[in-house]
Amino acid sequence: MLVRVDFNVPISDGQITDDTRIQAALPTIRYLVDGGAKVILMSHLGRPDGKVEEGLRLAPIATRLGELLGKPVTTVPDCVGPEVQQAVENLPEGGVLLLENLRFHPQEEDNDPEFARQLAALGDLYVNDAFGTAHRAHASTEGVTHFLPAVAGKLMERELAMLGRALLRPERPFVAIVGGKKVSDKIGVLNNLIQRADRLLVGGAMANTFLRAHGLEIGRSYFEADAVDTAAQLVKGARQAGKELLLPRDCVVATEFQAGARHEVVAVNAIPAEMMIVDIGPETVRAFSEALADARTVVWNGPMGVFELEPFAAGTRRVAEALSRVNGTTIVGGGDSVAALEQAGLAERVTHVSTGGGASLEFLEGKELPGVAALDDA
Ligand code: 3PG
Repeated sequence: MLVRVDFNVPISDGQITDDTRIQAALPTIRYLVDGGAKVILMSHLGRPDGKVEEGLRLAPIATRLGELLGKPVTTVPDCVGPEVQQAVENLPEGGVLLLENLRFHPQEEDNDPEFARQLAALGDLYVNDAFGTAHRAHASTEGVTHFLPAVAGKLMERELAMLGRALLRPERPFVAIVGGKKVSDKIGVLNNLIQRADRLLVGGAMANTFLRAHGLEIGRSYFEADAVDTAAQLVKGARQAGKELLLPRDCVVATEFQAGARHEVVAVNAIPAEMMIVDIGPETVRAFSEALADARTVVWNGPMGVFELEPFAAGTRRVAEALSRVNGTTIVGGGDSVAALEQAGLAERVTHVSTGGGASLEFLEGKELPGVAALDDA
């Protein structure tokens, strides 16, 4: 059984700093192991650009996976070739083999058919459980499906079910919270959510661009000059669709992006020229919490402020708290919002924490994910 997982986890000095994605793949792996399959796992790690990078070998991941499974995980120094074939032959039923980083070969990202064929030759059925990489049409996510029967794994299924239901058949009111830095990165997501959600709450630095679109002076705050018109269009689109689009009413401004910087709370129409916005203010937190209070479905992507710096983390944390009180389905996606949620100790209190960053964004945009579209059970 050839299984594509997304073990692209953060590693620092050879230590895995967050094993969420490994944990998330366990149900599929355990299911296959218990069924007596030979489980051949493949993943990428980082962006080695088609060359072997010693720091991006998967050995630490095999060790961690072995600990979690309570059984050893075999490794090989490559993902194709005679040595790999031999390791597959030697693997007992119920055994687990983790191939080496797929992206050590440029053919992986090129979706090279011959490379895909070599990967496919290692199994007789292909399972894609790598939701986090489903937005990439690579040899291990798309190419292999031309050579083997291809089905979704349990994580893939759960991600698609949770995100899909929220977008297509949400219980209402459906509230979307979008934050992060750039409007330009999330135009598609904002557009799609304006159509599908009842309320859209916008925070983070991207809200600054919206504030500019309303003609407000925002001091030294970051904003995207060439996305101001887009923001104005989004506001207009929301109004025309009869949707509520909530922007910050007040904010925390600071002299610098530093924890010790002088900071204060001001209304969005009274931002001092020499200061910059670093978080949403308490009035906005109250408005956003109210907008969430009766929600039955919530999707959240992107922090509300510079949450990495403790004095400016309150807005994001309070929104996470309001989210945790929602009596309905709550879904959080995107690395930063997940990190903020974990920092607040609230990850257990939401219905679904997506393992997909880019993939969950593209899904929320309404785009087709090539790794999903290629599956027989798509
Ligand atoms: C991710 O972390 O978003 C996925 O593993 C995909 O990684 P990539 O952006 O390097 O393709």
